[in-house]
Amino acid sequence: MSVYVIEGGRTLSGEVKIQGSKNSTLPILAATLLCGGESVLFNCPRLSDVEASLDILRYIGCTARREGSTVIVDTGSVSRCEIPPTLMHRMRSSIIFLGAMIARFDRVRMSFPGGCELGPRPIDLHLDALREMGVEISEEHGELDCYVSDRLHGADIVLPIPSVGATENIMIAAAAAHGVTTISNAAREPEIVDLADFLNACGAAVSGAGGSTIVIEGSSELHPATHSIIPDRIVAATLMSAAAVTGSDIRFTGIIPSHLESVLPVFRDSGCDIDIRGGGMRLIAPYRLTAPKLIRTMPYPGFPTDAQAPVMSMAAVADGMTVFVENMFISRYSHVSELCRFGADIRVEGKVAVVDGVRRLLSADVSARDLRGAAALVVAALCAKGASEIRGIEYLERGYEDFELVLSSLGADVKKV
Ligand code: UD1
Repeated sequence: MSVYVIEGGRTLSGEVKIQGSKNSTLPILAATLLCGGESVLFNCPRLSDVEASLDILRYIGCTARREGSTVIVDTGSVSRCEIPPTLMHRMRSSIIFLGAMIARFDRVRMSFPGGCELGPRPIDLHLDALREMGVEISEEHGELDCYVSDRLHGADIVLPIPSVGATENIMIAAAAAHGVTTISNAAREPEIVDLADFLNACGAAVSGAGGSTIVIEGSSELHPATHSIIPDRIVAATLMSAAAVTGSDIRFTGIIPSHLESVLPVFRDSGCDIDIRGGGMRLIAPYRLTAPKLIRTMPYPGFPTDAQAPVMSMAAVADGMTVFVENMFISRYSHVSELCRFGADIRVEGKVAVVDGVRRLLSADVSARDLRGAAALVVAALCAKGASEIRGIEYLERGYEDFELVLSSLGADVKKV
């Protein structure tokens, strides 16, 4: 198991290119199953979750190889219509293969994706929607047995909450189903638009992605495609937090500024000077941050739950009090007790966390328990006085590519041991 050793207090500088989005890559890799041939994906981050998806594709019988940040997947020949528990449990998001596999095989067996460090993460919305599209699903002993007795068909699906994963599973299955599917109250995240762009490049007819109603006309003639994954807005927000807590001046390239609109006000309210030009952005942090006051996580275009933890590290050293309201997941404050070890002043009650900013964090030895919580601990250690040790780096590596190298290139003192 790897540990980060971070000597905090260094000011960062220079330029950083943002990696491709994990949350776009995973559903798009699953969607390649619809194409039956060689798809080429540019800007694919090298992450353990992405590798887990590639291993699922290989298990099914596809070939997948990587050339730098390009991943080439050939789904022309497939031999298995099941995913064993060992592969399902490696990544919570493996459920995203359900829609693609049922569209390709008409029969799928897989286990439930398993426990989750963010509290219970049900998949009822995924299953209900697929049932409406003609999939028979039985759930026994932690196993899902799904088959299409007649025909996978379009349906009018109204999601009670705009679930990202359910929207993606429906879109993928619908792209290859018979007839038209309408998703109402669909998730609106940029990753949904990226998936729609990939499906359309494969010959699908998806319209309305990015809005609350998505219409998908099914097609039996999808073909492989070449696609470039969008930049990861959460990695960008994490590095912006790192720049903010260290009083740094950093240029970001390869971003899509509109995807950051929900986080930019928080940085501006904290006193950061943000200059956006073309596809680049410069962030100049103030000597002392001002508390951003109130942050409520919401579905896109609201403030992303995935940025809550790293931004909390920023609030921990800002002047004043910040109230966080976590509306998306329960148990998403596992980083709080660890941030307090750095000397942060944070109280949690239910979905509310109250952060009273302190002038300085002090080094600590801490353990990450989830992906974004790990990122928060790295941000805190970067500004803490002294050497900190962060365990649980395997969580970080699910979503941040070579993070120690990225931070070192900006002047941070980070060693992976
Ligand atoms: C995706 C992201 C994750 C992000 C989350 C919210 C990926 C791989 N992961 O996760 O990083 O934090 O969106 O932006 O893209 N829910 C149900 N039943 C369901 C499905 C979801 O009740 O069948 C609930 C969840 O418990 C949660 C809420 O809906 O409270 C939102 O979850 P959802 O949007 O589905 O998140 P994921 O797709 O799992």
